[in-house]
Amino acid sequence: MTRGQRPRRLRQSEALRALVRETRLSAEQLVMPLFVRAGKNVRAPIPSMPGQFQLSVDQLVRECRGLAEQGVPAVLLFGLSAQKDERASAAYAKDGLIQQSLQALKAERVPLLVITDVCLCAYMSHGHCGVLKTRGGGRGKPKAKKRPAAKPAAALSLEDGTAWIDNEASLELLAKTAVSHAQAGADLVAPSDMMDGTVGAIRHALDSSGFDRVPILSYAAKYASTFYAPFRDAVDSAPRFGDRRTYQMDTANAEEAVREARLDLEQGADIVMVKPALAYLDVIRRVKDALHCPVAAFNVSGEYAMVKAAASRGWLAERPAWFEILLGIKRAGADILITYWAKEAAALLRER
Ligand code: PBG
Ligand code: ZN
Repeated sequence: MTRGQRPRRLRQSEALRALVRETRLSAEQLVMPLFVRAGKNVRAPIPSMPGQFQLSVDQLVRECRGLAEQGVPAVLLFGLSAQKDERASAAYAKDGLIQQSLQALKAERVPLLVITDVCLCAYMSHGHCGVLKTRGGGRGKPKAKKRPAAKPAAALSLEDGTAWIDNEASLELLAKTAVSHAQAGADLVAPSDMMDGTVGAIRHALDSSGFDRVPILSYAAKYASTFYAPFRDAVDSAPRFGDRRTYQMDTANAEEAVREARLDLEQGADIVMVKPALAYLDVIRRVKDALHCPVAAFNVSGEYAMVKAAASRGWLAERPAWFEILLGIKRAGADILITYWAKEAAALLRER
């Protein structure tokens, strides 16, 4: 008598399992996030992200060479700025951290795609991703004497109308930042601010400054997640008051993510991102199925830190854990995996 379908017949050996494996990781899809700070010869460990460092530009170049050698094709740069003001001037300064990094990487011909995070939070004194307006207080800094003094940050709220993030004013600075990254040599720009219309504003600004070939990787569905906490430590970008829920997405929504991603594509985004990844695997799948476009997923700092913490106590085996996580993100529909394990993953995939 025959037994018909017996799934275990194809699980008998690694050769058979590999033959029918549906999802494979490849180094070519990995993006490594890196943190740049001022100084020379600095490689400062980030306590909340063991194995990750704040790098001065010279060390960044070194790290990028190593990544390229391991077969990592792309890095995503974040700046850790000591200079913060109400206009995020350091975000679009000609000699800003990201601009310097780009110039150095391009001058040294490091064979990597350099993607830059375009946002204002790490450069704003208030730590929000856009321009802050307060009722009666201009940008929190009264210009005319007659205006009432700005409330101290602790008294401000984005929920009660005493303060808000001005969408259009933010677009102007974001577009300026993107253009200054392109001028310094960015291969792709990745706006992560979650204002409305950012992609369109950046696309227009890039095109009219001669950078029509620079693609936009848009943080299209970026949730107001608690899993960014270690990152905010790393770049000192936590909001000084309130939170990001008036611009980042409500964590309960999935259909809205498809709408967000569609809007970004209409405005000229080339790749759309879902972020974080692990609690949003359904969102990755929905965006992929609905829009049939390149999808990136950001395996964020908190997801990294959780595994690191458990592994350091012997509760989880780190390598199998991240391998399974990255496979899951890809299986969900992501084409591009942005992960702090990019170097280890590339090394492992090379060995195999
Ligand atoms: C800034 C930005 C954040 C991350 C990427 N860009 C933090 C935030 O929005 O607060 C998170 C990355 C990570 O957690 O790994 N807009
Ligand atoms: Zn931001």
